[in-house]
Amino acid sequence: MKITEVDDYQAMSRAAADLVVERVRSNPQLILGLATGSTPLGLYQHLIDDYNRSGTSYRHVTTFNLDEYVGLSEQDPNSYHYFMNQYLFNHIDIEKTNTYIPKGNAQDLEKECSVFEERLKEHGGVDLQILGIGGNGHIGFNEPGTSFYSRTHLVDLTLSTREANERFFANLNEVPIRAVSMGIETIMESKEILLLISGEKKRDALHQLLHGEIDESFPASILREHPNTTVIFDKAAAGGGK
Ligand code: GLP
Repeated sequence: MKITEVDDYQAMSRAAADLVVERVRSNPQLILGLATGSTPLGLYQHLIDDYNRSGTSYRHVTTFNLDEYVGLSEQDPNSYHYFMNQYLFNHIDIEKTNTYIPKGNAQDLEKECSVFEERLKEHGGVDLQILGIGGNGHIGFNEPGTSFYSRTHLVDLTLSTREANERFFANLNEVPIRAVSMGIETIMESKEILLLISGEKKRDALHQLLHGEIDESFPASILREHPNTTVIFDKAAAGGGK
């Protein structure tokens, strides 16, 4: 794992955007894995700014998102479909038909998982996967205890994850109890991974990622075995600064 500490959230977002833009420019047909949550918002804003300023094109880029809540339609403002349109896709020249996000309202969710895996395979897998991390070490929605050999699957969300995401909903009862998530093995097959960690709420998670055991009780720990992962974190996550 390549580890980079930067001053703050803005510096993390800029460094991440520089890396993504470089990869898109050197491979205009990049298969880009995307994440949701607060962490990548700054990165997405930088990508939009770069697109407006320098015209980096996403016309031939294909994206795969990590996860989606079960039961929310694509139009639901809390769905990750809506999130991606709002914070990235509507502002760059990507073809929506080249963006894949698991459908949380599919009739047959098991089938949706295998269709998603099939699409990924057809595209030769993810070239660069963006990741955030949950306070409990989850990546995507792979909660502690998830097998390192998991493929795209249906997950029950832990109370701590639902509480962490409650801020986006009216109240805790509105937060879905299940999600579809790329599996850990699926994520590990990405050729390159960029993990972003920011803020003091992620302090313990960063510490455990860097110093803890590689164990299914802390899903992100497996990234230490990935041959091409970069972690960019800020001083607040590292235990200093803001
Ligand atoms: C969410 C997402 C993850 C994300 C994580 C951290 O539940 N499913 O993909 O990385 O939790 O979110 P945040 O960046 O808002 O702290």
